[in-house]
Amino acid sequence: MTSDWNALAAAAKAAKDRRIIDLFSDAQRADAYSATALGLLFDFSKTNMARADLDLLLSLLDRAGVAEKRDAMFAGARINETEDRAVLHTALRSDAPEIMVAGKNVMPGVKETRARMESFAKSLREGKFKGQGGTITDVVNIGIGGSDLGPAMAVLALAPYHDGPRCHFVSNVDGADISDTLRDLDPTRTLVIVASKTFTTIETMTNAETAQKWMKTKVADPGAQFAALSSATGKTTEFGIAPERVFGFEDWVGGRYSLWGPIGLSLMLAIGPDNFAQFLAGAREMDDHFRTASPDANLPMLLALVGVWHNQGMGFATRAVLPYDQRLSRLPAYLQQLEMESNGKSVAMDGSDLPVNSGPIVWGEPGTNGQHAFYQLIHQGTRVIPCEFLVAAQGHEPELAHHHALLVANCLAQSEALLKGRSLAEAREIMAVRGLEDDELDRQARHRVFPGNRPSTTLIYPKLTPRVLGQIIALYEHRVFVEGALLGINSFDQWGVELGKELATALAPVVRGEASAKDKDGSTQALVRFVHENQS
Ligand code: F6P
Repeated sequence: MTSDWNALAAAAKAAKDRRIIDLFSDAQRADAYSATALGLLFDFSKTNMARADLDLLLSLLDRAGVAEKRDAMFAGARINETEDRAVLHTALRSDAPEIMVAGKNVMPGVKETRARMESFAKSLREGKFKGQGGTITDVVNIGIGGSDLGPAMAVLALAPYHDGPRCHFVSNVDGADISDTLRDLDPTRTLVIVASKTFTTIETMTNAETAQKWMKTKVADPGAQFAALSSATGKTTEFGIAPERVFGFEDWVGGRYSLWGPIGLSLMLAIGPDNFAQFLAGAREMDDHFRTASPDANLPMLLALVGVWHNQGMGFATRAVLPYDQRLSRLPAYLQQLEMESNGKSVAMDGSDLPVNSGPIVWGEPGTNGQHAFYQLIHQGTRVIPCEFLVAAQGHEPELAHHHALLVANCLAQSEALLKGRSLAEAREIMAVRGLEDDELDRQARHRVFPGNRPSTTLIYPKLTPRVLGQIIALYEHRVFVEGALLGINSFDQWGVELGKELATALAPVVRGEASAKDKDGSTQALVRFVHENQS
């Protein structure tokens, strides 16, 4: 692939000499550099990509064997080679009769667990499953990373469909998180869900034990108001959670890809099994699209190619995800884990160093809020930040259609501003009208120049329904897969989180004053000392 990356770098270098706006001399550009599928429109015409560049990127897909790798993933091959596991989160949303992993059909198990989740959710939502004090009014999901970000993001995204109990999410080991969450809840009418694939994650287990103590203050049988979502069913029993409220999944579901199965229980409780089924159906549609659409019309592939063009080609280190949708305010955080834990690797599957940048730094906030915070830098800073806008054609508040029109107008205006910018001559004209002259006119005008020529993409969806959210999340999952496959890395392990965990375990007794810091570096020793001196 080195020669391919060199070709990409050369193409990207050449692109820097042209302006995106000039590419629109091709009247067909908006059509040619966009794709529609499943009712979604992905427009990447406002990127600095010309026909030859797109062809080159499409050829990379072939040469990296992306289609073959994709098919291997869907077929249950052990593509997570560093953990020796299959990668089959797609099975969690599948309705296929058979998907084989190591000679075993996993679908009966998936469907059985899904049916148990549905029956539990129905029973709780209908008030049949009760707490000691009556109907369950509040659900607290305790988990972190993939056991938190997905359901937290989706529950918020689907607020218009939320007719079940209130859902709360506790993730941080900072006692402030659980304390602030539990303060106003009635333990006798609360269900606590302990969500942890491994059931060993220190943050989650510490919070779960605190929740158990809290529950014990008012509830005679606290275990009866706990559920567990985990691959480690032995450990859930040790914790005291009865098997009928344990929803298991296999090791071929990665944490950050686990929203579609048991980890989605809080979402199912919030929106109900029917809406949850729609959510899965949307993802399934995206799976089918990803598997069957030709690369030049394949949304995940095109989204990935744009990502690779900007990051590995043009060298733009970050990408901003900017949903013009307040209910997608947790999407950037969700995508940070999905993308950065998956593709933040500098070693290829075969152990060699990557010849190009690893996956990008992903960040963002919803529009229009971000416009009043960090867009200044996006428009006039010295670094180029490719922007990925998302917006619905329609909101859920027909009575507030004027809000939605403003929201959409702002979203489109941002991509237009990034594309066109404002030249010095235009800025001078504006300042001249305001009566400025000579040096002062020049000086003031320069501050009002927008370089433009800054790339963005826009994903427009009809309305943020459960089905559409499923499509969008699966789209991003597959985008991450394609980018990882192009880089030749393993997108499904996360060894980079281990060292910090190990050191934290070793430091905990030092911080508690039970062990000496003498083996630590000078900085760490000084920091511990300061903490100790300021604890009284
Ligand atoms: O941070 C590492 C990680 O393993 C994530 O990949 C995972 O989503 C998270 O921790 C939580 O893990 P678990 O679900 O096992 O508690």
